[in-house]
Amino acid sequence: MPGWPPLPRGSIEGLVGIIIAVVNNKGGVGKTTVACNLAHALGLRGKRALVVDLDSQCNATALLIPKAAAPHQGLYELLQQDVPGANLEDYLLTTRYDNVLCLSNVPETASLETQLILGAPEYAPGFCLSWA
Ligand SMILES: Nc1ncnc2c1ncn2[C@@H]1O[C@H](COP(=O)(O)OP(=O)(O)OP(=O)(O)O)[C@@H](O)[C@H]1O
Ligand SMILES: [Mg+2]
Repeated sequence: MPGWPPLPRGSIEGLVGIIIAVVNNKGGVGKTTVACNLAHALGLRGKRALVVDLDSQCNATALLIPKAAAPHQGLYELLQQDVPGANLEDYLLTTRYDNVLCLSNVPETASLETQLILGAPEYAPGFCLSWA
């Protein structure tokens, strides 16, 4: 990405930053709006921000990525392909806003939820049965 130093390949080790989670149990209260505006505000102040759109409603993606953007890989491909040593940089998109990158999402990610839950070690059938 122009103007961005290369990310470490295959690892986010060595990156110094903070993770800001905007959380509220209630729906439609402005979480996505706050997250995107916060990223934009940080970008305006010269900080680099990455918005990770984990919601298959894809509202952050719609806010940040112009509709005319070329087809690209995002969270769906990253989760689906499960490529060992995948380079995160290949999945990040520049956005409408300077200094703000996005790991974008598509509604199809919702279809991966069962697969991801069953694949998680703590939810593996053997583990669940051992607690039965
Ligand atoms: N400060 C605000 N004033 C008025 N409207 C707002 C404000 N913040 C957000 N909205 C509007 O409220 C609606 C919901 O906002 P948003 O999508 O950010 O909520 P959310 O908490 O992320 O929702 P969800 O739980 O569905 O993910 C949107 O239409 C947004 O434009
Ligand atoms: Mg939201």
